[in-house]
Amino acid sequence: MRRALISGITEQDGAYHAMSIKYVIREMRIKDISSLHHMYNMLSEDSKRFFHPGFLGSKNVSLRWLLAQISLCLSSISFLRKTLLYLFPYLVFLPLIVADSQDNVVGFAFLKIKKRFKNGGFSAELGIVIDEAHRGRGLGSKLMESLLKMAQQEKVREVFLTVLSDNFKAIRLYEKFGFKKVGETIDRWRGKTFKSIIMRRVL
Ligand SMILES: CC(C)(COP(=O)(O)OP(=O)(O)OC[C@H]1O[C@@H](n2cnc3c(N)ncnc32)[C@H](O)[C@@H]1OP(=O)(O)O)[C@@H](O)C(=O)NCCC(=O)NCCS
Repeated sequence: MRRALISGITEQDGAYHAMSIKYVIREMRIKDISSLHHMYNMLSEDSKRFFHPGFLGSKNVSLRWLLAQISLCLSSISFLRKTLLYLFPYLVFLPLIVADSQDNVVGFAFLKIKKRFKNGGFSAELGIVIDEAHRGRGLGSKLMESLLKMAQQEKVREVFLTVLSDNFKAIRLYEKFGFKKVGETIDRWRGKTFKSIIMRRVL
């Protein structure tokens, strides 16, 4: 079935078509990890200022980076992720990617579990990025929609994030999906400090 979604993006049999390119949004697989790092390495400095989760890109390898790669690999195998979510939830990522027609990663979004509530649900931190060449086509919105759906399936009850206060595009995207400002903080990157806001949405 073909149907129009948002500004110029159409959906057909689970794939998205924008500017004659076919995109697929799906769970990340281990084989996507090197393509994901490649996409991150190629981002502009401005994009990296906006989005620097610390475990992407192959330029700042550290013990923390290495541990995150192991968590990402384990989280990319669905049955292992479910086991980890039960035993060691703080190791778990819920990772989704946007792949282009050559199966290159052109978008990535994740939730990282931060807290388990007494009722068994989770609180998680969100991150999202779309490759610069593919922005403004509705992919960020579709990815966000899919991530929040996945979050609900995995019993994530609260999602929060930190966004630089001059990242207006991302703030608009988050507001569109019901996130509300709940606080302010300072982000440090490459020796500089930036004003940031904390946003939250209850699912
Ligand atoms: C934020 C980001 C993920 C959006 O991805 P995208 O694929 O361009 O998003 P979409 O095309 O779905 O647009 C989403 C919303 O962003 C806003 N937006 C997109 N392009 C915009 C522009 N040129 N100017 C202002 N707002 C814009 C709009 O609100 C849009 O929703 P709408 O068209 O329904 O109004 C992308 O810009 C990105 O990767 N930025 C760098 C990394 C980053 O900042 N991540 C967030 C860190 S907290």
